[in-house]
Amino acid sequence: MTQKLYIETFGCQMNEYDTAKMRDVLAGSHGFVVTDNPEEADLLLLNTCSIREKAQEKVFSQLGRWRPLKLRRPDVVIGVGGCVASQEGEALQRRVPYVDLVFGPQTLHRLPRLLDEVRATRKPAIDVSFPAIEKFDALPEPRAEGPKAYVSVMEGCSKYCTFCVVPYTRGSELSRPLDDVVSEIAALADQGVREVNLLGQNVNAYRGTTADGGIADFALLLHYVAAVEGIDRIRFTTSHPIEFGEPLIEAFAQIPKLVDHLHLPVQSGSDRILGLMKRGHTRSEYIEKIAKLKAVRPNLSLSSDFIIGFPGETDRDFQDTMDLIETLGFDASFSFIYSPRPGTPAAEMADTVPLETKRARLARLQHRIQQRAAAISSRMVGSRQTVLVEGHSKKNASELCGRTENNRVVNFEGHPRWVGRLMDVWITEALPNSLRGRAAEHSLRAAVSLSFPESLTAPVA
Ligand code: SAH
Ligand code: F3S
Repeated sequence: MTQKLYIETFGCQMNEYDTAKMRDVLAGSHGFVVTDNPEEADLLLLNTCSIREKAQEKVFSQLGRWRPLKLRRPDVVIGVGGCVASQEGEALQRRVPYVDLVFGPQTLHRLPRLLDEVRATRKPAIDVSFPAIEKFDALPEPRAEGPKAYVSVMEGCSKYCTFCVVPYTRGSELSRPLDDVVSEIAALADQGVREVNLLGQNVNAYRGTTADGGIADFALLLHYVAAVEGIDRIRFTTSHPIEFGEPLIEAFAQIPKLVDHLHLPVQSGSDRILGLMKRGHTRSEYIEKIAKLKAVRPNLSLSSDFIIGFPGETDRDFQDTMDLIETLGFDASFSFIYSPRPGTPAAEMADTVPLETKRARLARLQHRIQQRAAAISSRMVGSRQTVLVEGHSKKNASELCGRTENNRVVNFEGHPRWVGRLMDVWITEALPNSLRGRAAEHSLRAAVSLSFPESLTAPVA
């Protein structure tokens, strides 16, 4: 009988990516089929996140909800992967004894073997090691799901910002060879992928080996990706300000397929806090990099990550962050209150800021960024935007839905055959969470003549 797999995913895009790989690897090895009902699953996996305390707590409450399942059907296998698994290892299995499998972000390709081991021995299996780049060689060929795809180009982080667990849970920076990345993208393009998002904790730390024994940096990788036929849009998540150098700025000047959007985490606008965080750059260095980039990309939309209430953050420090927002005009943010993570240097720093103050600061920051985002959306009304049509609109299935380069959802009337294409759309209205639009005429003609045989579109004489 076909075995069923249920996976719950917490955390970042990297985890979403890893979850897709878990599905692929288990479909290949054991013929697992995904179910969205945990009650009928033979294997339950939890892909976890430990970036903040809340994310970590969710793991244990989710496992608690699965406990009755395990009591009822002891043959069900429960596995925990991701960053909490990586950090806790055996301790996790001791704390939650009905967990059968513990694996890390770098050992998910070993799932089939670990599962067989659990079933054969009826004992838990734990593997949270960091075996070099073996993972990618062991994974099946990617399958496209729609016109957008994520492709991991590097893993891990060697920056050790004082607040962050990632270097401990995902290991040091490790790049995939250039040819592997490019041929994976070519295979996805053959399956209809038009937009690729290059993934990594610090993509601009990319140093991939080339076929002739050289090393390619991230800017060179971008040139190779841009040359892949069928790929029309390139994004990347996430880059780090300290490796955002001239070659990458040049790439933005030279590669039109790179979108007019950049997510570049800054965390704080205060030099004092940036120093305590060990981010490796100052406020003005960040501003200078953005200025250089805007010189070659005047319409660039910029988003960032912020941490509010880092230990000892004063009103003055926070004001520096708010001022930076005014100076640079961020369009979106991932912003959270600082969460002390065990084992990180910042967790040892005296944290005297009351929670109420942190909450008020966060609300102020988020409100300001939202205001700015709304203003940018309003300014887009009347403009013509290139949209990647991703599918049907959520609220109205007879409409299409796509995204602009600066990541806004646009709903507009159109033909189902346009799904998967890049189209020009006039923006007609800005709503709080999306835009409305109308397909531009020349784009309409192109789409129609592409969709139908010549005889159908030729005017009837
Ligand atoms: N290199 C990745 C960082 C991954 S962590 C990147 O640049 O995207 C993602 C974000 O989580 C960080 O940018 C930071 O803003 C936030 N974060 C990390 N550790 C945190 C902590 N201890 N408390 C609050 N937010 C944190
Ligand atoms: Fe974390 Fe800093 Fe790396 S935020 S992922 S240690 S760059």
